Parts: sequence; structure tokens; C-alpha cells
Amino acid sequence: MTHKSRKPYIAGNWKMNLDRSKCLDMVKIIKSRLGDGNDREVAVFAPSIYLADVTAVAQGSPLGVGGQNLWYEENGAFTGEVAARMLREVGADRVLVGHSERRHVFHEPDEWMGRKVRAALDRDLLPIYCVGETIEERRGNRTDRVIKRQLDAGFEKVRPEDAHRITVAYEPVWAIGTGETATVEQAAAVHKMIRKWIAQRLGDEASQITRVIYGGSVKPDNAKQLMAAEDIDGLLVGGASLQADTFIPIIEYDAR
Ligand code: 13P
Repeated sequence: MTHKSRKPYIAGNWKMNLDRSKCLDMVKIIKSRLGDGNDREVAVFAPSIYLADVTAVAQGSPLGVGGQNLWYEENGAFTGEVAARMLREVGADRVLVGHSERRHVFHEPDEWMGRKVRAALDRDLLPIYCVGETIEERRGNRTDRVIKRQLDAGFEKVRPEDAHRITVAYEPVWAIGTGETATVEQAAAVHKMIRKWIAQRLGDEASQITRVIYGGSVKPDNAKQLMAAEDIDGLLVGGASLQADTFIPIIEYDAR
């Protein structure tokens, strides 16, 4: 199975940007440009406070809507946190887990990742599990080791039958919001390593089903080139997902 048989997955991570009306405007524009959703999967990850409104506007289209984080417990004294069932209740169908900003700004440890991914899967949310090395780790030749450690943590409770629902996002920390994109060769090498890791962990079949997407300074002018690589199955877009004139061309990248 080549990446042509894994449905391309283009996702926008809005982070703590856009106000409510701008979120809704973006959803309306994206919705108007999506076809039946058969040839590519498109989703936006919105601030949790706007999710109910965003999912209401997205309804009736193939656009996926997700939260940017979750906590793995069902309920309890966890001030400020949002449970998987709460995301589900406001209409989200997916969630980001372990984004580098969660790891580095908010110091989320590896130990939480397996439970977060499992909580998402158990509540019918499609997780995108994010991994990626810092520039120091890359310069110290520790990229593979760091990513395998992150994969070990996030896949702790993942089973082969979850493969069609979980996505891995490779987001090199040094390429996020910096304008510095990993070269296609750099990204493709890590994606290949991740797929091999999944094959060893969950088996060949699961590794061919699981999508591995790239994030880090994706722009309209590098989307097609990245998507042409064998093991790159999609794009997780930050800055360029905040405006229609940059996000729409990425969604509509020419797959030929
Ligand atoms: P940028 O596209 O702004 O580099 O952000 C990438 C990212 O973190 C997506 O999750």
C-alpha cells in the first residue's frame, strides 16, 4: 500500500488565535470549498471555547473539527481541563495530543501521552499524536531516539485495530512558527522511521494504515512538494491555516 491509498489529511491548528467570528468565517469558507471529502480529509483544531459554535457551522460538511488538547480522566477536580467526553459533547470528532507547545511551554510529560491517546480513542475522538525533536536534539544526532521515546509513550495503550483512527504528526520543534521548514528529505526520513517503528510495534498492516503527517512552517508553496513524498500522508498547518488565502491553496494542493 502506498501513500496514495492512505487518504491525504490536511489539518489546521489554530492554536490560541482567531476570535469567534473569524473562526466561523473560516469554517464557512473552507466548507464552501470542500467537495464530498472523498479524496482528502480536512479538519480544523479550534480553541475549545469556540468548538460548539464551530461544529454547528461545520455540520453537514465533511470538515472535521477537533480540540487542541484534553485531559484523560472522565471528570473530577482538574481545574481548567477538558475531558474527552466534553469535546465529544460539543461536536468535536478529533483531538491533538502532545503538541510541542503542550510539551515545551506547559511541560506535559511523556507519561501522560499514552493515557491521553487512549482516552481519546475510547471516547470516539480521532487523535493526532504529535512528536518532534528540538534543534539541540537534532544537532546532537538524537532525533530518532527522541521520537521513538515519544512514540513509546503515546502508543503505550494503542492496539493494531486502532491504526485507522490514530494519526501521527511529525513536527520538528525547530520548524514550528519559524519559517524554517524541514527539507522534504529530512521530513521523509523521519516519516519512514516512524512507519518502521509502527510496523515493529503494531505490525505491517497497521503501519500501512496509520497516517503520518508533517507540520512545521507548511505554506502554499511547499505543500505539494511535501505531499509528494512517499511516507508523508498529510499536513498539520499552524500560521498558514489562519487565513483563507493561505489555507485554501494548501487544502487544494495539486495531488498529481
Ligand atoms: P506553523 O505552521 O505555524 O509552523 O505551526 C505548525 C504547528 O505547530 C501545527 O500544529
